[in-house]
Amino acid sequence: MKVLIATDKPFAKTAVDGIKKVVEAAGFELALLEKYTEKQQLLDAVADADAVIIRSDVVDAEVITAAKKLKIVVRAGAGYDNVDLKAATDAGICVMNTPGQNSNAVAELVFGLLIYAVRNFFNGASGTELKGKKLGIHAYGNVGRNVARIAKGIGMELYAYDAYAPVSVMENDGVKPCRSVEELYETCDIVSLHIPATAETKQSINFDLLSKMPKGGILVNTARKEVVHETDMVKFMEARLDFKYVTDILPGNHAEMQEKFAARYFSTPKKMGAQTAEANINAGIAAAQQIVDYLLNGDNKFQVNK
Ligand code: 3PG
Repeated sequence: MKVLIATDKPFAKTAVDGIKKVVEAAGFELALLEKYTEKQQLLDAVADADAVIIRSDVVDAEVITAAKKLKIVVRAGAGYDNVDLKAATDAGICVMNTPGQNSNAVAELVFGLLIYAVRNFFNGASGTELKGKKLGIHAYGNVGRNVARIAKGIGMELYAYDAYAPVSVMENDGVKPCRSVEELYETCDIVSLHIPATAETKQSINFDLLSKMPKGGILVNTARKEVVHETDMVKFMEARLDFKYVTDILPGNHAEMQEKFAARYFSTPKKMGAQTAEANINAGIAAAQQIVDYLLNGDNKFQVNK
């Protein structure tokens, strides 16, 4: 059996070494495709793979068709919006993610971005502190819970809205649940996005919702660029000179945002929330183990296309 790691954004070497150990201990072979520049390289690499470990790499119908022997795809990470689930399901391919494995790394970056924002992008001007501010956690999953844990240490007041998570989970963590997304945005000085990109959430962070935020509001996005309505964001930042937007996912209109709002907007050049050795090791090795457990024992605990 051949397990392929196909990562445009490579894992730390220690993670690749760990994955290799797990794969070889099961008697399988490991192949590596990193930093590929053409889709054809991915199509060629998957041709004889039985299993593939990916990150934000796009596995669409064309990739599925090219992967004649493929039995399982594991997205080493949380969001699997980059995988065509229907094409995979139709081809009888199991798709999994590795929930929680990279969430601390993403949560830590939230605070890196926030401190950068409240200290005026380190330009030397007097800024503000996070302590005492109201932080709204938009979706209370694995990353949201880690954000809450860290924010408590900083001394922030915590609120969350999640359409699916039980209110008791938030209350047990000392987080005040909001009854609606509007209430979260009205209440909080800072909102941190942790929603997945789905048909329901895409472009949902729009002008109306952002308009609810109090003066001096900040939105931090370590989730997905698709959830933000980009033209509304431009309109909103033109109207609200007090508002800042910091993101770990380069918007489609980055050049325009940069040109118009340089003093209130920042994006990392390439998504780096989960780009730590620890997150790579946790998510990469979990992915390898899930592949082995599935191929040898049929364990489908983390399957997302059941
Ligand atoms: C995730 O969904 O797990 C994060 O967005 C991390 O994505 P990455 O593996 O591409 O860094």
